[in-house]
Amino acid sequence: MLEKTLLIIKPDGVKRKLIGEIIKRVENKNLNIIEMKMERVTLAKAEAHYEVHKEKPFYKGLIEFITSGPVVLMVVEGENAIEIIRHLAGETSPTKALPGTIRGDFSLDILENVVHTSDSKENADKEIKNFFK
Ligand code: PPS
Repeated sequence: MLEKTLLIIKPDGVKRKLIGEIIKRVENKNLNIIEMKMERVTLAKAEAHYEVHKEKPFYKGLIEFITSGPVVLMVVEGENAIEIIRHLAGETSPTKALPGTIRGDFSLDILENVVHTSDSKENADKEIKNFFK
């Protein structure tokens, strides 16, 4: 199934100069980057993006972190792109993220974990609309 998903290179990924590394992994997989931009996420967009986590204890930290510096936002398209990008990113937990995945190779932290990826078709559509009009 041809799908679109949102991949965000979080502020730590940009700061650590991992933009090229992540683009390379997406392109090596033969997925298509159909939109891409670098920007500082506004508070309003961050709150819309993380609305599902509003009641979680880590919500405030999520908002502070995603607005703390520039990010790279990209829409990735391809067959089963949502699940494939999640596999490339690896698990959220640093103890579960396997070597070979972006988080497994580059992160030790559950928040500063280099990338965000959409977790379902419904959320991908919402997240893409929030950032790309
Ligand atoms: S959940 O609870 O399963 O819905 O969470 P998950 O989808 O794995 O993660 C959602 C985002 O929250 C971040 N996260 C955390 N930050 C700080 N502390 C803790 N304990 C924590 N758990 C999850 C995680 O990095 C995810 O950020 P994004 O930007 O969506 O990848």
